[in-house]
Amino acid sequence: MIIEPRMRGFICLTSHPVGCEKNVLNQIEYTRKKGIIDGPKKVLVIGASTGFGLSSRITSAFGANAATIGVFFEKPPSSGKTASPGWYNSAAFQKEAANAGIYAKSINGDAFSDAIKKKTIDLIKQDLGKIDLVIYSLASPVKTNPKTGITHRSVLKPIGQTFSNKTVDFHTGIVSDVTIEPCSEEDIANTVEVMGGDDWKLWIQALIDADVLADQAMTLAYSYIGPQVTKAIYREGTIGKAKDHLEATAFEIQDLLKPLEGSAFISVNKALVTQASSAIPVIPLYISLLYKTMKEKDLHEGCIEQINRLFRERLYIKDEIPLDTKGRIRIDDWEMREDVQNEITKLWKLADTSTLPEIGDLNGYKSDFLNLFGFGFDGVDYNEDVNENIDINGLV
Ligand code: NAI
Ligand code: NA
Repeated sequence: MIIEPRMRGFICLTSHPVGCEKNVLNQIEYTRKKGIIDGPKKVLVIGASTGFGLSSRITSAFGANAATIGVFFEKPPSSGKTASPGWYNSAAFQKEAANAGIYAKSINGDAFSDAIKKKTIDLIKQDLGKIDLVIYSLASPVKTNPKTGITHRSVLKPIGQTFSNKTVDFHTGIVSDVTIEPCSEEDIANTVEVMGGDDWKLWIQALIDADVLADQAMTLAYSYIGPQVTKAIYREGTIGKAKDHLEATAFEIQDLLKPLEGSAFISVNKALVTQASSAIPVIPLYISLLYKTMKEKDLHEGCIEQINRLFRERLYIKDEIPLDTKGRIRIDDWEMREDVQNEITKLWKLADTSTLPEIGDLNGYKSDFLNLFGFGFDGVDYNEDVNENIDINGLV
């Protein structure tokens, strides 16, 4: 069929298999051009189909020739409907890995469940023996706790005070004021349950118990800090409490890994357009100013640039991994540079519907958003009739 983007609010209902493949091919090409990394050999990526997790899988496989197992939760194509983008991304990844003779297998299901953890461990035992790197890159609005059976939903709200600021509808370019009422105590607990570190720790404990982690195995989860203007809604809001919890969990996991001389790290990444970040008020306006500023300074990066820099200049270097005072890896260093943030503070005051096209990178935002769903890529003929019924080879 001929597939066009069908937008509804912050999501796109369709995705394009050829465009998603192009996205994966571009990321592979970028990684290969950077040369070989003396890096991980056998990698498990939890949340491997989009965003930072997909880029982590690509960097491992095509940067370090690593065998990868990817876990994700994506919708297959069905009765005339396209699959979710992560499905097509994973199909393309598997195809390219097979072409290159690199081991890759994928598991589609709920990573929070005991069943998917068991399935993953069985696959590791059968095919790889032991894993030396575990990347935890889940982003989800909901989680069913496997022990209690209770389903929790995360929220994006400020804590203790009403928050008002500017935001942009990136489809229309209209800048308006948004006001968000403070959360309840329950909201905080639910958000920490979904996006905090509990599930990461359950994964690592299960992998240790099954004896499928190699000596000196490393694990990593992704966090975000961000600027002053988003503080009340992000880092000091409900999601920030979940990130505090995730970061604290890294130290607990570090202790679990002591007998193996392994290590657990948080990497603080840059703000980027993903399905998750587009739904957070204020963030799209911040990102459009950030993109403009970083592109002008020739500092702009997407997921694949970020993760390549993470592997090549932080994780797999001769010296010790450089950490901040709270023990975190920082690849948001360019975003947080003083000159970048000073510029954004200046632009923030000027931003309105009429100035934004000039002072912000709204087009960059929109194009990145379309790209998430496989639309807007050069070299893809969107008028062509394409097969949406794509299988993922290597799906277990
Ligand atoms: P994303 O939405 O692109 O990727 C989420 C991944 O998790 C997908 O592979 C999806 O299939 C998988 N997933 C979701 N629920 C699942 C479930 N129940 N079972 C199995 N897989 C499931 O998200 P993104 O943006 O790459 O986020 C990854 C991490 O990076 C998150 O911790 C996020 O907070 C963090 N981060 C994101 C930033 C951003 O600007 N987007 C900035 C810094 C950190
Ligand atoms: Na991800």
